[in-house]
Amino acid sequence: MSNEKISLGERNYAPFAERYAAATETNAYNGHYERPATLSLLPEVAGLRVLDAACGPGFYTEWLICRGARVIACDVTPAMVEIARKRNPGVEIRRHDLEQPLGWLADSAVDLVLMPLALDYIADPARLFREFHRVTSPGGFLVFSAGHPMTDWLIFGGAYYDTARHAIEWKGFGEPKPVIDGYRRSLQDTLNPVIEAGYVIERLLEPRPSEAVRRVNPESYAKLAEKPAFLCIRARKL
Ligand SMILES: C[S@@+](CC[C@H](N)C(=O)[O-])C[C@H]1O[C@@H](n2cnc3c(N)ncnc32)[C@H](O)[C@@H]1O
Repeated sequence: MSNEKISLGERNYAPFAERYAAATETNAYNGHYERPATLSLLPEVAGLRVLDAACGPGFYTEWLICRGARVIACDVTPAMVEIARKRNPGVEIRRHDLEQPLGWLADSAVDLVLMPLALDYIADPARLFREFHRVTSPGGFLVFSAGHPMTDWLIFGGAYYDTARHAIEWKGFGEPKPVIDGYRRSLQDTLNPVIEAGYVIERLLEPRPSEAVRRVNPESYAKLAEKPAFLCIRARKL
């Protein structure tokens, strides 16, 4: 595969998948901030058929399985797929690039599509949300999180309204520091593709940091108390 054929997500995460898995299980931003916020938007999951899209190390899959959901998961980065499979033996976890159609899922195959922290690596959210809508059963849910449009704009600058590609070095994952390349979008360009795909947005969360975040990392707490790092959304296919 030439480098251009390797998806943005894989280029970002392949070099430090193990380090990402080790750090994000209990770190402030993921383990104590984004994950509890996104999980708070889920309906009762027992018995639901769930697609954990861009599952990464499989923390969400594990949480769902423990609560009686039937999960199928996917990720584009082979090392993440391996880590998620080890964490969730017996669960079907596929290597799949979400820029491609979910040909292996029938219409209405799942009751919930969950996609935490992966939208920023997707070139065409409208196409992806249409595909999620196709595989979601009537009455089913879409829950996802993404970089907060305002906060990311404060970091990267430029014209707020334009979708732009930015690369940034991440601290907190050891050396060499990973360089993460992704898309920053306005709020309307984040949410309108969800609505245009046919979903109704039910709940939008700009999470505040908890006391647990303060305990784990007071510096992160101070930043997050001023501005949210992520946007978490629950939408429904009526
Ligand atoms: C920030 S991690 C989030 C992982 C997991 N959702 C979580 O919150 O623990 C982003 C994940 O998205 C995956 N990813 C990025 N682009 C993708 C794509 N086009 N198709 C499938 N997975 C993708 C990466 O491989 C990585 O595992």
